[in-house]
Amino acid sequence: MVKKATDKKEKNKEVEMPDENLVNEEDVKKELLKEMLAVNRTPEEIEEIKKDEMEVEAFDISKLDGVGTVRKTRLNEAGIFNAMDIVTAGPMPLAELTGMEVDATAKMVRKAREFLENSGVIRNSFMKASEVLEYRDRKINSKRLKTGSLEMDKLLGGGIEPQAVTEFYGVYGCGKTQICHSLAVIAQLPKEQGGLSGEVIWIDTENTFRPERIRDIVLENEYVPIQKRKKTEIAVPVNELDVTKFLDKIMVARATSASHQDLILEQLSRSLQLEDDDKKEGDPRVVLVIVDSLTTHFRSEYLGRGLLAPRQAELGKFLHKIARIAEVYNIAVVVTNQVLANPDGFGAPIKAVGGNIVAHTSTYRIWLRKGAKSKRIAKMDDSPQHAQNEAVFATELCGVCDIKE
Ligand SMILES: Nc1ncnc2c1ncn2[C@@H]1O[C@H](COP(=O)(O)OP(=O)(O)OP(=O)(O)O)[C@@H](O)[C@H]1O
Ligand SMILES: [Mg+2]
Repeated sequence: MVKKATDKKEKNKEVEMPDENLVNEEDVKKELLKEMLAVNRTPEEIEEIKKDEMEVEAFDISKLDGVGTVRKTRLNEAGIFNAMDIVTAGPMPLAELTGMEVDATAKMVRKAREFLENSGVIRNSFMKASEVLEYRDRKINSKRLKTGSLEMDKLLGGGIEPQAVTEFYGVYGCGKTQICHSLAVIAQLPKEQGGLSGEVIWIDTENTFRPERIRDIVLENEYVPIQKRKKTEIAVPVNELDVTKFLDKIMVARATSASHQDLILEQLSRSLQLEDDDKKEGDPRVVLVIVDSLTTHFRSEYLGRGLLAPRQAELGKFLHKIARIAEVYNIAVVVTNQVLANPDGFGAPIKAVGGNIVAHTSTYRIWLRKGAKSKRIAKMDDSPQHAQNEAVFATELCGVCDIKE
């Protein structure tokens, strides 16, 4: 990985610098490697150096089979520059862009994947179950994002999971957007407070993102110093800039149509950063992407039975792409979804929009119902690892919280 470049420089300290005439950076690197291998080193050390070298070497898309200058330019123009972009784009869009056969672009994606696996960016395709467990503990379970409600966290197995798509669905006013607002604040908090010290991207399709709600949540939970107040008074910050810092870490992308939503997703990778365990707390990194709501535009633009198939295809493409982004960049994706009456007459009276495509692509589906006043009920509807339990929580001025006895 590129990040390891500094480590390597450290290791290079003891190596004599190469000829000054070698101005080309690549040549300098190769020369250094040769020198290092010549020194009396253990096989383990040599392996380590080789691995570092491979990680430092950038993935060059023009070295892929069939990618010449014209195709490279076309890919670059579409925002595809590196291995991460190739993997998140997927074979079909790459074929459309380059005019290559899907078989060839699938091979391209495979190569980029292998590169990312070898660099430790994404999980290896084959792992022993014990390794999967170790990986999940290190990269996923220790990086769950809390929701503001202990009950909801319990339902989710400790919080919102990175590298997964978590879908909240339910009728109007059931708290979907409120959950998103709470998550957008908590994601910025340090780990001790349930957060991930990160930044947030919010794809807003309904124009319901409200900075005022972010302010409420920050102040009511006293995530910043507030002026002394009596119980009934609203919170006022000691320094308004403290609140601004929270707002500045949420990038809101207003999507005005389904195709605009797609376009935003294409541009999204440019704002994302790979996870780097060596990074200091507070270094910028997006840890959460919110799509509120996933289906609004698709639902209103593709009306009627005749357009159902293209709608589902587009929705599927969007979701698969966002799922791949979540995997490559180790971020949590939260989407909200609307409901419609279930005409089957069996099971629940309502069902989520988007049919099987959304149902299968979301890793976790949570159905939200309204209770009295601010009370809400969340039910784990579909999960590869949770029982169909329920959690009772509340949406208040302070955002998502547990019901106060
Ligand atoms: N400032 C606030 N203080 C307390 N509760 C609030 C506040 N703002 C919103 N709410 C609560 O949140 C509810 C709205 O929830 P939310 O906006 O999350 O609905 P939704 O599920 O996103 O609905 P839709 O499908 O219409 O988008 C309101 O009915 C209200 O109970
Ligand atoms: Mg909403």
